[in-house]
Amino acid sequence: MRPISAPTPFGRFRRLRRTPALRSLAQESVLTTADLIWPVFVRDGVDVVEPIASMPGVNRLSIDRIVRAAEEAATLGIPAICLFPYTDPALKTDACEEAWNPENLVNRAIRAIKAAVPEVAVMTDVALDPYNANGHDGLVRCGIILNDESVEALVRMSLAQAEAGADILGPSDMMDGRIGAMRGALEAAGHRDVAILSYAAKYASAFYGPFRDAVGASGVLRGDKKTYQMNPANSDEALRLIERDLREGADMVMVKPGMPYLDICRRVKDAFGAPTYAYQVSGEYAMIRGAALNGWINGEAAMMESLMCFKRAGCDGILTYFAPEAARFLNLR
Ligand code: PBG
Repeated sequence: MRPISAPTPFGRFRRLRRTPALRSLAQESVLTTADLIWPVFVRDGVDVVEPIASMPGVNRLSIDRIVRAAEEAATLGIPAICLFPYTDPALKTDACEEAWNPENLVNRAIRAIKAAVPEVAVMTDVALDPYNANGHDGLVRCGIILNDESVEALVRMSLAQAEAGADILGPSDMMDGRIGAMRGALEAAGHRDVAILSYAAKYASAFYGPFRDAVGASGVLRGDKKTYQMNPANSDEALRLIERDLREGADMVMVKPGMPYLDICRRVKDAFGAPTYAYQVSGEYAMIRGAALNGWINGEAAMMESLMCFKRAGCDGILTYFAPEAARFLNLR
């Protein structure tokens, strides 16, 4: 496509920017509440709302409160909620058994949400870090993050989540071969309609810091995740990973983090045309919220602009901690 315009003064781009009506007619991308996936943090207890210091405005919620959040999502028109557990440190082990306990926090939360608000899609996180004594996404032996043994554990975890009623599984672990293994196990167990949203292009990023506080993984994590998460300098590799995961049976794919990686979102959408999502991660949220709380930027405007940019970059949806606030803003217009 080669857009053509008349030379000045006949071509004046400002004509279509003159009024809100003309601007809206000429607008290319649209953001709606239906584009949002809301990540929430689950913890034990009853009626607990526990603030997370590095993510002002975001709280860890007990299951009863999570159900209320899901009800709020339904009211606001947010189609999906994504669960992350804050696991009791006493339950974290090197073998990560709590990850596939049918009664773990996430599996209980899935059942509670599905019983109360079945129309809200429940997405999960498939990775071992919230349950791992050493904070890694995979099993660790002698300082090495094991691939195939981790995939076996992730398959068990996936089956437990599917059994509990999850609609979308979100493997965020970056082990090789986990999508095919999960898909095969889901088919064999009769869970043919459970969707997989693969965190296919997930970078080893400094922007996950506040999240690791939120799930209680910061203190225990030894080393970094660079042997399994991607090098931020790479772009072609992201396309190869997305293609691999689609061929293994992923229904949807994700680029993560979001805003610093919009070039990847665009390449992925153009190359495959698959349902493509970006995760506006905890550090991105904290930067916008922190600057807003300091009075350095207009928080609401920056939030809405950042979300629109994901749509412009080709994303079909965005995982964002701003989901309820952005939805309220969109519903008020
Ligand atoms: C871990 C996981 C992480 C996030 C989602 N799942 C952190 C990590 O890889 O260390 C990050 C989300 C965020 O920062 O908001 N499997």
